[in-house]
Parts: sequence; structure tokens; C-alpha cells
Amino acid sequence: MPTYADATKVAEVEQRIRSYPPLVSIAEIRRLKHDLAEIHRRSGFVLQGGDCAESFADFSETKIESTYTLLGDMAAVLGDATRHPVVRIGRMAGQYAKPRSSDTETIKDKSLPSYRGDMVNSFTFDEEARHPDPTRMEDAYFKAAGTLNLLRSRDPEGDGRAPFYTSHEALLLPYEQALLRRAGDTGAWYDCSAHFLWIGDRTRQLDGGHVEFARGIANPIGVKVGPSTQPDELVRLTEVLNPLNEPGRLTLICRMGAAHIDRLLPPLLKAVKTARRSVLWVCDPMHGNTSSTSIGLKTRDFKSMLSEVQGFFYAHAHLGTCPSGLHLEMTGQAVTECIGGPSRLEEEDLEKAYRSCCDPRLNREQALEMAELVARELKLMRPATAAPLDWSAMHGSVVHLRPRRTMPVPPRYAIGAR
Ligand code: PEP
Ligand code: CO
Repeated sequence: MPTYADATKVAEVEQRIRSYPPLVSIAEIRRLKHDLAEIHRRSGFVLQGGDCAESFADFSETKIESTYTLLGDMAAVLGDATRHPVVRIGRMAGQYAKPRSSDTETIKDKSLPSYRGDMVNSFTFDEEARHPDPTRMEDAYFKAAGTLNLLRSRDPEGDGRAPFYTSHEALLLPYEQALLRRAGDTGAWYDCSAHFLWIGDRTRQLDGGHVEFARGIANPIGVKVGPSTQPDELVRLTEVLNPLNEPGRLTLICRMGAAHIDRLLPPLLKAVKTARRSVLWVCDPMHGNTSSTSIGLKTRDFKSMLSEVQGFFYAHAHLGTCPSGLHLEMTGQAVTECIGGPSRLEEEDLEKAYRSCCDPRLNREQALEMAELVARELKLMRPATAAPLDWSAMHGSVVHLRPRRTMPVPPRYAIGAR
């Protein structure tokens, strides 16, 4: 959380946002919770994706439309494998606040406060620009409203499929709190800044403010589950965040890293299954696989991400639990931020179109390739449609990273934990 210099100014901005209309409606939020509960019941799939950090400068029709279209195209590929419509959730219309591992950023000999997302301060490397400015919360509100307006015009309700939903990390609590609205029928509080909110890996402490906030809202919520998560701690989190054990309420978004997933994920799956906690398991193959190039650009290797996805499916197949979704940092624009993929981008290519303000994103062709590979994993889990997994056939760009499975794969409907 940033430290604002002027608490009165923060309170004034909060007060104004509190008086504005909600960005999403309680009825829509309830619909998403229902759709996620259906994923439990019918072994469906959720696709969540978008920028690591949305940027005010990138607020344009082309930008929003390209990622929206890409999510739709990927959902079609995945839906073909699951035979159910895939629930689409954008990391959009509010992904403006970033947790940082370090409070400062140093370029050459100069150290300044870290960039914390456009809702907090500016990406510009300048002393003044890096001060947290509370009026940015109001800018974020209107940018989110404009984004939602475009998304709604592209995705009109009523054609029978699930609507397009939005999400972001519930990090900047003054903003989230200002968008709380109370349901007239049940009296429950909803965070109407987005349909789905998640708690980041850095702020998921059981006695922390972010868990306390999320506990009090009725939205479907997620928690990022990183390598330091202990099984008993995770079970406790599921009890605190989903005391009624409602299907659809809680999604665990695992981001272990390709090197650790085989060791770290199974004990967590086992603990949550044994405790009979109802959760959706989603794979974020991005955040555990970040590295730095020789010139200091953050990147991710497509092969490592793919390896983590395979490890995720592998662990679920062993334990009879259900892999229910994919969470990606991606954009419909032709950026060069991640290494590998169909065009076999290399480190030297990254400078050509590196535009992320925060973490490296998959571009359109890399994201589509990922969707195709995940669709193959999903088909493999369904005995009726099982096809041999031949990674090398995928545009020739993927190598065998794991041995072929030898154990029988349990049917996707036999899920003990559910
Ligand atoms: C993110 O999703 O951009 C992020 C910061 O993730 P995590 O909390 O998993 O590190
Ligand atoms: Co990120």
C-alpha cells in the first residue's frame, strides 16, 4: 500500500468515488459466481487474462479490442476441448495497482520510489511523478468505466453465452472500499469495481488487511498461491475466505514456477482435497517464471510456462483433482516481451516491441499457442475424446518437456474434493 502525503485528499477522493455509480452490477457479479459454480459441477474451464498493469496511456479502442478479441479466440479453442462455453474474465477495467517486491527502483545511479501502477503513481522515472497521487484513483475509475463501456458494446448480453467479466487485484483498498455497494435483498456487500477480485501472493497474510477486506465481500474471489504457501496455511485461507464452502466463491491461482510445481503443488492439492474445501484450481504459469535479460529486461520463456502448465495438469491427474482454468498476462498487440513461442522470439528480439509497464506479456500468437496446448491437455483428460499428446506437432516450436503419462488418468467427473 502506498503512503499518501495528504490523508485529507485521499478521503476526499474516496468520498467522491463512493457517490459515483457502481462500475459493475451486483446482478452481474452474482451471475459470475453462478458460472464459476457451474465450472465445479460440469468440469468447465475459466480463462482469465490481460495486462500485468493496464496503463492510462494505452487507453484506446484498438488496445482494449485486441485483447478482448484474443480472449474470445482462445476461449473458443478451449471450449472446443471442454465442450462447454469457457468463462472469460479480463484482467481489464481496473488492473491499475501493482504490488512491488522492492520499494525503490534504481536506474544507473538514481534511486526513486517504485512504480506501483497508474492508479498510484506514474511510470515516468522522475521524482515528482513517482509520488503517490490519490486523484489517480478517480482517473482509474473513469478509465475503467470507459473500458467497460467498450467491452459491453462488443459483448451484448442475451445471445445465450456467459457474458464477458472483468477482474483485477484488490490491492489498493481505498479504491476498492469506495466501490462497495450493498445488495438490497440480502444486505451483503459487493465490491462493484469488478466482477472478480483477487488477493496477490504478497498480500495473502491470514491476519492482513487484504484477506480481511476480501472476507467481507460477496464477490467470487481469487488468491494467488506462490511457492511459500504452506498446506495448512492454504486450508486455513479457504476456511476464512469461504466459510460456507460455497462452490464458485474461491479460486486458487497457482504460480509456483516450472522448477517447483512438481514438488510444491501436490501437497497443496492433497491438503485442500482432504479438508473437503470447495475451490477452483487455476494455473498462472507467468509469475513463477520471470527472469532478467543481460540488459535488465524482465522476460519469460514460453517453454518454462508450458512446462508449468503441464506440471499443473500432471499433478491434478495424479491426485484426482480438477484443473479448472488458466490465468495469463497477455495482450492482443504484437509485443515482444516473452521469449519463444511460434515465432521463436529470442532475447535479442525483445527490444523490438517491449511495451509492458510491469511484467512481460504473451503476444497474440504466443497466447493462442498456449490455448491450443492447454486444449490438448483438456482433451487428454476426457477419456471419450482422448488423443495422444504430441507436443512436437504443435507448429514445431515445442519440445518434449515431460515424459508421457503412464498412469491412468482419472475421468474429469470423479472429483473427490468437490
Ligand atoms: C500479478 O498477477 O500481476 C501479480 C503481481 O501476481 P502475484 O501476486 O502472483 O505475484
Ligand atoms: Co504481473
